[in-house]
Amino acid sequence: MAEPNAVSQLADMELNDGTGDQLSKDTSVADDDRVDPWTVVASSEKGIDYDKLIKRFGSSKIDQALLDRFEKVTGHKPHHLMKRGVFFSQREVHRILDRYEAKKPFFLYTGRGPSSGSMHVGHLIPFVFTKWLQEVFDVPLVIQLTDDEKFLWKDLKAEEALRLAKENAKEIISLGFDSEKTFIFSNMEYIGSSPPFYMNMLKIQKCITFNQVKGIFGFTDSDCIGKISFPAIQAAPSFCNSFPQIFGNKKDIPCLIPCAIDQDPYFRMTRDVAPRLGYPKPALIHSTFFPALQGAQTKMSASDPNTSIYLTDTPKQIKNKVNKYAFSGGGASVEEHREKGGNCDVDISYQYLTFLMEDDERLEQIRQDYTSGKLLTGELKKELIVILQKLIGDIQENRKKVTDDVVKDFMRVRKLKYNY
Ligand code: TRP
Repeated sequence: MAEPNAVSQLADMELNDGTGDQLSKDTSVADDDRVDPWTVVASSEKGIDYDKLIKRFGSSKIDQALLDRFEKVTGHKPHHLMKRGVFFSQREVHRILDRYEAKKPFFLYTGRGPSSGSMHVGHLIPFVFTKWLQEVFDVPLVIQLTDDEKFLWKDLKAEEALRLAKENAKEIISLGFDSEKTFIFSNMEYIGSSPPFYMNMLKIQKCITFNQVKGIFGFTDSDCIGKISFPAIQAAPSFCNSFPQIFGNKKDIPCLIPCAIDQDPYFRMTRDVAPRLGYPKPALIHSTFFPALQGAQTKMSASDPNTSIYLTDTPKQIKNKVNKYAFSGGGASVEEHREKGGNCDVDISYQYLTFLMEDDERLEQIRQDYTSGKLLTGELKKELIVILQKLIGDIQENRKKVTDDVVKDFMRVRKLKYNY
């Protein structure tokens, strides 16, 4: 696919409607980081310049004021992933908090492209955070499995993509979601059974020109037409009337979408069409990427086993991968490390701890000790290995209980425990 020139061609879409959605004019060409739903590559070893990305995408930073408001409105301390800036960017989360304060409903929407049978730790992050949000707000959650997307983009048989969707559903369920509050669906299965969902896809498709999707996603004349219309499918779950079994005949219940920031192009587009269809715009909360073991220049990728820790890895594999591949910001020798200290900004084991270690004080101690040289790289890696082994061990334990029937239960078209 050609270099997507970000949003330049979107200039002809009217976005300046006072909701902070002013899509910035294209500046990505001069920028070396590349971020779109299919490619994430940073130009520096420190990884993506996320502040620049906020400017380029026209979103807002999650600032202290928002964190304070979150705590005030919900009575919960913000999740460590929010406090530490893993979830760093947002669109209109204030509006969702206003609704929560006014006891008005909203729902959560997130998703997963099932490209491999087993997910890796990076894939977990949005789901861990989404589960926490669901516990805090007690709202319905819809999870879209884009087997169709992976069929179109990858060398995968349609049947295989659907099978992978169900495998992934098992891992997602193993994180502890509640079937009374959560609807998981495969596009291949659900769309054909749901006229309201399909009607929303059509309405969205009718609002967007080829020229616009070229501008947003970088499609070219030689991309198959399935790809060109796919964005409407990822947009449709943002609208509650795509799920009448859950929301009855309501069409004005907005959603909040937790996702990695590479998915934002889909939802900029969704937010643009929403008012024209008479629907509320989705609010968003964006995460940074979970870096590859080799360093923050690329994200963890399911297609390269050595860059990733999988949810199916054994304790031994976890230990070996971290010890062998996790890029170190430590000194070249013990002497040098003791003298000059380590660099947490590029050290992957430390970066992973910021995602996974809940204890703020302990994390801060590790940062200080590693920076001063007191803590060695091997010791730092040990901390990470223990956390990963526990996290993944627990998921594997839970997964044993997720039978095909449990998956069916989550994926059945049904009402959830909420009334509207
Ligand atoms: N396109 C996403 C992927 O490849 C899957 C997805 C669908 C998604 N809907 C979503 C991700 C909503 C986040 C939020 O992984």
